Amino acid sequence: MSAPIDLAAFPRDFAWGTATSAYQIEGAVTADGRGPSIWDTFSHTPGKIDNGDHGDEACDHYHRWPEDISLMKRLGTDAYRLSLAWPRIVPGGDGPVNAAGLDFYDRLVDGLLDAGITPSVTVYHWDLPQALQDRGGWAERETAEHFAAYASVVAERLGDRVTQWATLNEPLCSAWIGHLEGRMAPGLSDLTTAVRASYHLLLGHGLATQAIRAAAPGAQIGLVTNHSTVAAASTRSEDIAAAVRMDGHTNRWWLDPVYGRGFPADMRELYGVDLPERPGDLDTIAAPLDWHGLNYYFPATVVDDPEGPVPYAREVRLPDVPRSGLDWQIDADGLEALLMRLTDDYGLSRIYVTENGSAFPDTRGPDGAVHDPERTRYLEQHVAACARAVRKGAPLAGYYAWSLLDNFEWAYGYDPRFGLVHVDYPTQTRTIKSSGHRYAEIISAHRQAHG
Ligand code: IFM
Repeated sequence: MSAPIDLAAFPRDFAWGTATSAYQIEGAVTADGRGPSIWDTFSHTPGKIDNGDHGDEACDHYHRWPEDISLMKRLGTDAYRLSLAWPRIVPGGDGPVNAAGLDFYDRLVDGLLDAGITPSVTVYHWDLPQALQDRGGWAERETAEHFAAYASVVAERLGDRVTQWATLNEPLCSAWIGHLEGRMAPGLSDLTTAVRASYHLLLGHGLATQAIRAAAPGAQIGLVTNHSTVAAASTRSEDIAAAVRMDGHTNRWWLDPVYGRGFPADMRELYGVDLPERPGDLDTIAAPLDWHGLNYYFPATVVDDPEGPVPYAREVRLPDVPRSGLDWQIDADGLEALLMRLTDDYGLSRIYVTENGSAFPDTRGPDGAVHDPERTRYLEQHVAACARAVRKGAPLAGYYAWSLLDNFEWAYGYDPRFGLVHVDYPTQTRTIKSSGHRYAEIISAHRQAHG
């Protein structure tokens, strides 16, 4: 029995979409002049990725994109969030532009528009050209400057047809997981490097915002960040303080500077790392945006952990709560709470849920169908949470399910399946899962609700 969803809450022009990213689906990593990225290097480093998986072939979207657009049409979505591979377009990170790389996205954008699907383009989703990493990567200011130059190239080429632009996807993961925890590319574990990377990612966001506006004056520009609600595991003052620190690390460090509050003083003190600030940087980072993208998956409950790593707050595993296949807690109320925080605390005027979804180890049944009741339920609960937030005043303009396709889930490889569409990797056969069919029903019911 499907949960009731207040679809009439969503405005008539609400965007229903799916999301992917380049390295996770494209494959074709040496085709047509693409250069190596930090994810090619990392995924081919023994021991870094479960099962020794990598993105060399992935979903072969580079060649199969027309079929993937047909799948979007079958789902009834009207928007698609994709990312551009920097190493396809500027293989060396800076310097010569690879025309064939740009041509690929040109065809993809035209294909989407022909199908009546609005592209929402993310300029960077973690696949830094390896050549820039070899010169220090995001820990160096020049990477932010090269990022802006690359953003200018893509906006000049696609900006006549693409209006919806995001600079970065989840800079938290790039900085903290990639440079502090070492679980993602480039696989470093150093606080100073991580804090410098976080700074230059946000500076790069601001510089790229300026560059896109200059190249494509009609562009609607946003930043995509991932967040969790953070609760203390007890009423102990130490745990409450730990929750404040985790909130700073996960949420405020990324939102405060972008929305004009500067980097939070308590976190600057906690990290104890000098920021590589120059006059004017904070204004650049806080460049006015047209929208914000929220990626939401799970909440966090923490205890004080003075002996642990920064931010000295350790997540605890709550018993008896629903969990997805990656052992992530499922809590749709967290999505509603974050939407209200962005609305009420940060005063944002246009928000998209740019990613939301769940992984389970789906299989195709003997009838060839993929039944995924847990993902269907997750989808329904989170869309319902969005509807509640809209009723309370959140300016939510769209929802993008993560993900269109099962794909390369970074350090976890291909086992976790996030897609509304199942991919049988050996044959590249695509099968819409029951959650995908349910998403199509939700979209259609929303349209009917508005006559
Ligand atoms: O697959 C990722 C995506 O690349 C970024 N956001 C979270 C997703 C699920 O882990």
